[in-house]
Amino acid sequence: MSYEYILTRTEGRVAIAQFNRPKAYNALSPELLQELMHALEAFDVDEDIGCIVVTGNEKAFSAGADIKYMAGAAAPADMLNSPLIVQWERLAKISKPVIAAVSGFALGGGCELAMACDMIVASESAKFGQPEINLGVIPGAGGTQRMTRAVGKALAMEIILNDRRLSAQEAQQVGLVNRIVPVETYLEEAIAFAAEIAARAPVALRLAKEAINAVFEMPLQAGLNHESRLFYMLFSTADQKEGMDAFVNKRQAKWRGK
Ligand code: CAA
Repeated sequence: MSYEYILTRTEGRVAIAQFNRPKAYNALSPELLQELMHALEAFDVDEDIGCIVVTGNEKAFSAGADIKYMAGAAAPADMLNSPLIVQWERLAKISKPVIAAVSGFALGGGCELAMACDMIVASESAKFGQPEINLGVIPGAGGTQRMTRAVGKALAMEIILNDRRLSAQEAQQVGLVNRIVPVETYLEEAIAFAAEIAARAPVALRLAKEAINAVFEMPLQAGLNHESRLFYMLFSTADQKEGMDAFVNKRQAKWRGK
């Protein structure tokens, strides 16, 4: 399928989806989000892909949901029935690791989209914020929930109630961002990071992601039980046998994703 609002490509086992609305700071229109989710779902079922990078451009990851589109909504049902917010549910269902490579603005829905990914590589120019309060609304795609879980209540209150923006350094200090890299090479660095992950045992990667995300949904004992079941399940895979045999025989493992 050819896309109008995103660009896609692969580098080895890494797939890259890049927003392509530079004149609107990669504002997230329903069409852009639909294309993004279509691409991510296709990568998710492609066994040649091990990790996905979502990115924008140097100036903007994304300035958020398309305000011009939302300005036309006259009633709650217009948003409820809109293909805008509902797309985020599809992102949460991607089972392979997804890395957001963020440079410049990650505001509103852009910040929410980055936080809905599994890890964030930020360029030195990255700016994270939830400025919806300036539009008379609140974050609507997970900002109040994911930001608070990521940075804690006190700072989340400032960010969401008073449009406090976080620099890349601040975002890393509070645990929102995995690593900070130079603007000039941010995408290459994110792809190299993704390639390291993509080279690992594919089924174990998926189950590790599932187990970590279960932390936010389950009490501790239920989470521990869930982890145990996933751990035992991996003993039915060829990759578990290969990984342990490779260790014992002092050789490099060759993963099959089975
Ligand atoms: N939606 C639609 N268009 C947007 C946009 C957005 N979120 N952000 C920027 N644009 C457009 C502008 O309208 C402008 O278009 P025109 O040239 O056609 O007028 C173009 O991008 C350039 O923008 P600016 O002239 O404003 O550029 P700037 O350099 O002065 O400022 C900016 C850049 C700080 C990112 C500023 O554009 C801005 O504040 N954008 C809005 C950020 C925001 O409020 N995001 C939250 C959206 S609501 C949301 O996301 C809800 C949710 O939780 C799902």
